[in-house]
Amino acid sequence: MRVVIAKDYEDMSARAARIVAGQIYLKPNSVLGLATGSTPLLMYKNLIMVHHQVGLDFSEVVSFNLDEYLGLQSSNEQSYTYYMYHNFFKHVNINKKNIHIPDGMTQNVELECQNYDNSILERGGTDLQILGIGTNGHIGFNEPDIKFEATTHKVKLDDETIHANSRFFNSIEAVPRFAISMGIKNIMHAKKIILLADGENKADVIYRALFEGITPKVPASILQLHQDVTVIVEERAAQMLKTRSQFENK
Ligand code: PGA
Repeated sequence: MRVVIAKDYEDMSARAARIVAGQIYLKPNSVLGLATGSTPLLMYKNLIMVHHQVGLDFSEVVSFNLDEYLGLQSSNEQSYTYYMYHNFFKHVNINKKNIHIPDGMTQNVELECQNYDNSILERGGTDLQILGIGTNGHIGFNEPDIKFEATTHKVKLDDETIHANSRFFNSIEAVPRFAISMGIKNIMHAKKIILLADGENKADVIYRALFEGITPKVPASILQLHQDVTVIVEERAAQMLKTRSQFENK
C-alpha cells in the first residue's frame, strides 16, 4: 500500500486524475470502477480538462459505478446516475453503452445484482477502481457489518451514512434507506485501487482503515490485503497519519 499525503484537495484531485489519465493512455479500453460523493468531484473536473485540452480519449473506456440508491429515478438530482452524467459523462466522449450503474428503480434487485456482477466479469474485471471512504469506513455502500459482502447486493444504509448524505437532500427523511452496492470481492478484484480521503472528518477513519485490524466493522480495512492500492490523503484527513513519519512526503 502506497500512502501519499497531498497538500490540499486540489493536489489530491490532481494526483488522482493523473493516475486515471495514465491508466487510459496505457490501456485505452480500461475498465474503470467509479465513485460518487464530494471527494472525487474535482478529480472528474480535472479529467474533463485533460479531455478538452489534450484529447484524453474515453471512447473505449468502460465504467462500472460502485453503487446507486434504491428508489430514486435516474432523473433525480440525488441519484448517482444523475451525478455521474452531470459531473462527468456528459463532458467527455465516453460511449453510453460502456457505462454501467446499478438500476435503482429495478423491480428485481436480486437479478439486477447478478447481472451487474456478470457484466463486470464479461468485461474482464476492473483495471482501476476509484474509492472514497465514509466516516464509518464504508467503501461503495459496504456498510460496517459482522461480515464482508462479496458481490453486488442490496444494502440497508447505516444511520451514519443517512446522516452524512442528508446534506445533499432537503431533509433527512428524503434520504433513501436502501441501495445497491458492489461487494468487497468486486472491489478487491480490481487490478489497481486508488482510495481518496479529504477533510478532517475522515482523519480518524483513515487511520483505523490503514493501521488497525482488518474487520468488516471498518470495511475499508480490507484494502490492507490488496496488492496495489494507492491512498491519496489530503493534509487534514492525514492528521493522524503524520505521526507515522514513513508516509511524510519528502
Ligand atoms: P464523500 O463520501 O466523498 O461525499 O465524503 C464518501 C463516501 O461515502 O464514500
